Amino acid sequence: MTVASQAREYERRYHEDLYGNHELFTPGTWLYKPAGYVIKAFDLVPKHDYPRVLDLGGGVGRHSIPAAKYFGADSEVVCVDLLESAIEKLRFNAKEHKVEKNIVGVVSDVETYELGDKAYELILSISCIEHIPTKQGVGDLIGRLQAATVLEGVHCFMMITNNEWVDSVTGEKLTPLIEQNLRSEDAISMLKELYAGWNIHDISAKDWEAMQLMDGRDVVLKSTCVQFTAQKSL
Ligand SMILES: C[S@@+](CC[C@H](N)C(=O)[O-])C[C@H]1O[C@@H](n2cnc3c(N)ncnc32)[C@H](O)[C@@H]1O
Repeated sequence: MTVASQAREYERRYHEDLYGNHELFTPGTWLYKPAGYVIKAFDLVPKHDYPRVLDLGGGVGRHSIPAAKYFGADSEVVCVDLLESAIEKLRFNAKEHKVEKNIVGVVSDVETYELGDKAYELILSISCIEHIPTKQGVGDLIGRLQAATVLEGVHCFMMITNNEWVDSVTGEKLTPLIEQNLRSEDAISMLKELYAGWNIHDISAKDWEAMQLMDGRDVVLKSTCVQFTAQKSL
């Protein structure tokens, strides 16, 4: 098995366990609340009738639901995720929050997802595009996303980079199970290059650390989150 396919399997198990055992917007895990960084990006989005939002790897709705509430009764939020169980839970959560009419759940790999011919006002990727196994694949998807964005539309991404996994007891360095372990400098220069001609509002990096139990071992997960907000200005 390649690292990329092991990573897919690890991701699937991790998210199915998380989404199956923890509720959205309740304390205890990162599902507790949306990222403030994403909510801030909502204000940049052009005020159009029938705004459309695409949430790549949207999971159970941590950002899709706040987006549907923010953009209102005429909005459409398309939430794409690899996991059928995530999309089922997204639909349940959307009903609970009374935005089921505004949210469309799609089970698909974002790399091959057909964007269709209607453009988006806002595209989110919160810990998703770094799961595409190659840089070329990320570049190709971003090209398609840019074409499917209205003038002044906004892209807001958070990408996990510089992944390091260390056994907290022995100090042994483990191979991080992520499809593409980008270095933050490479992710930043790739984004700057791909978004030349767009108005880049922010590109910044924040270190992050957490402990996770993996196959009976306490593992320290260290990474850098690259945050990126840009607006189409061509
Ligand atoms: C860390 S979670 C974040 C979920 C959500 N964006 C949020 O912020 O709450 C990453 C999500 O991306 C999904 N995912 C990973 N790779 C994907 C891919 N290639 N296509 C679609 N979804 C993917 C996972 O199933 C998971 O639900």
